[in-house]
Amino acid sequence: MMNSHGLSPSHAHLRELPIGLFDSGVGGMTVLRAMREQLPNESFLYLGDTARMPYGTKSVETVRRYALEAAAALTARGIKLLVIACNTATAAALPLLREAHPEIDVVGVVEPGAEAACRATKSGHIAVIATSGTIRGRAYEEAILRRMPEARISALPCPLFVPMAEDGLTSGPLAEGMAARYLDPIFRDPREQGLEVPDTLVLACTHFPLLRNAISRVAGEGVTLVDSASNTAREVRRLLMEKHLARGSGTSAGMPLCPGSVRFLTTDDVPRFTRLGELFLNMSIAPCTVEQVEL
Ligand code: DGL
Repeated sequence: MMNSHGLSPSHAHLRELPIGLFDSGVGGMTVLRAMREQLPNESFLYLGDTARMPYGTKSVETVRRYALEAAAALTARGIKLLVIACNTATAAALPLLREAHPEIDVVGVVEPGAEAACRATKSGHIAVIATSGTIRGRAYEEAILRRMPEARISALPCPLFVPMAEDGLTSGPLAEGMAARYLDPIFRDPREQGLEVPDTLVLACTHFPLLRNAISRVAGEGVTLVDSASNTAREVRRLLMEKHLARGSGTSAGMPLCPGSVRFLTTDDVPRFTRLGELFLNMSIAPCTVEQVEL
C-alpha cells in the first residue's frame, strides 16, 4: 500500500532513519558540519573510532577491517545512507563497503574532493596533502586524472597535522612552522627558483580544514584551498532527492517535521570525544547524545 506521497510504508520508514557517518576520530565532523548546514532536516548518527585512531598510519588491510566494523555498527542501528567521512578509509575501503552494504548508498569523500579541486584549478597544477595511507593509495591522483587527464599533481603526506588538529594546535608559530616544513618544498622553494607552483591545494584529510589558516599562509597568495566537506554534502543531498529519501521541509503528511537530531558513537571515552568534537563541529555536544561502543 502507498501513502499520499506514493511511498510504501517501509520506504517512508527508511526516510526517517538517520544518515550514518564514520571517521577514525573527530575529523569527520568537518563533513558532518557541512551536512548539517545543507541538510538541516536530516538526522545523523556519527561514529568516531577514537580508540583505534589514527587510521592514516595503518596498513590498508587494517584500515579495511576497521572500516567494515564501523560500517556494520552503524547499519545495525539503522541508517538510510552511509558516508565514509575519512579520506584514509575511503581510499582503502570504498568498493568493499559498497559490496558489504548493497542495501544503501555508500558515499566517500575522495571523489567530491577531487571534483572540487578540478573545478578550482586554472593552471591544472594541483597539490594534494593527506595522511600517509591516502597518499600511498593514490586515490586522489586517480580521481583527479580521471576528470582532468592533463593535470599535474604534487601529492604529499602530512601525518603530523592529524595529532596537531586533535590537540587544538591549529594556529600560531608552531602550526605555521610545521606547515612550512611540509609545504615549502612544493610552494616556497620552487617559487624562489622562479618555477611554477600549484594554484590549488586539496586538504585531503578531514582533520586538515582546522589548520586551514596556517596552511593557507604558508602556501601563499594565489593558492586556493579546497576540501571535500561541502561537495560530499551536496552529493548526499542529490542521492536522497533521487531516491525520495530526503526528509521533507515544512510538514510531512500534515504533521510538523521535527528538526533532525545528531547522535554519536565513540570507541573511547565520552568526555574526550565530546570536548574535541565540539572543536571540530563548532557546536556543543551534550554527553547524553554520545554512547561508548565496542566494535
Ligand atoms: N580523518 C582521517 C582522514 O581523513 C585522518 C585521521 C587518521 O589518520 O586517522 O584521512
